[in-house]
Amino acid sequence: MRIILLGPPGAGKGTQAKTLAKSLKLPHISTGDILRQNVAQSSALGKKAKDYMDKGLLVPDELVTQMMESRIAQPDAKNGFILDGYPRNIGQAQALDGLLKELNLNIDIVFNLGASEPVIIQRLSGRLTCGGCSANYHITNMPPKKDMLCDNCRGKLYQRTDDKKETIKKRLEVYAQESAALISYYEQKQKLQEICADQAQEIVLKEMLEAASVKR
Ligand code: AP5
Repeated sequence: MRIILLGPPGAGKGTQAKTLAKSLKLPHISTGDILRQNVAQSSALGKKAKDYMDKGLLVPDELVTQMMESRIAQPDAKNGFILDGYPRNIGQAQALDGLLKELNLNIDIVFNLGASEPVIIQRLSGRLTCGGCSANYHITNMPPKKDMLCDNCRGKLYQRTDDKKETIKKRLEVYAQESAALISYYEQKQKLQEICADQAQEIVLKEMLEAASVKR
């Protein structure tokens, strides 16, 4: 099964994708996580991407698409995947369609996680991320059991550099510019499933699993 998660920053794409991936036994592929790993390792890609990410801008399509082509070609993605943060615009959606066509594959379902601005701001301003396994926590909504340590891998938790107030504002602007066209692209293909992501994590997950089971 091939699933795409769309939604604004802070809607809960990463949080839901990780749980969904476990339930459906599929790899979770997050462009944000892969880019942050590259930045942390100071790879050639990371060096090119860092400035865009720090400013809340999209990393150029050619870099992201090349990165995704090699990720989707890996053996663990052969029987499906959950894409989180990709595609981000029409150019990326068309590139993904082209790649899947070559492989004779299709997207099964596109979840559009809608969230209201006050919820987004509350979530992003309190988010903590594990430096080891990229698990997400929240200071009040989903606190770790031990202060600033990941429950899963004991990695240190940190606040993302793009979760500063000004950068959040820029990321929301970029999302607003790109999202309408992307949503209607998948609506026209009759792949889109709207989910209200303001709800509790378990309810959002339950709705997604129910929708995915209909497509299986
Ligand atoms: P990326 O990492 O993809 O960031 P994003 O899209 O801005 O999304 P976030 O990770 O901020 O939010 P999320 O929806 O995953 O929410 P989360 O689950 O963490 O991208 C970062 C940057 O990389 C981009 O700005 C860009 O520069 C670059 N990039 C990435 N992909 C790209 C692409 N395709 N093309 C070009 N550039 C790209 O949840 C947020 C918080 O809320 C957490 O603390 C969580 O615990 C909490 N929470 C989640 N769900 C709930 C709930 N239901 N109830 C209560 N709390 C909740």
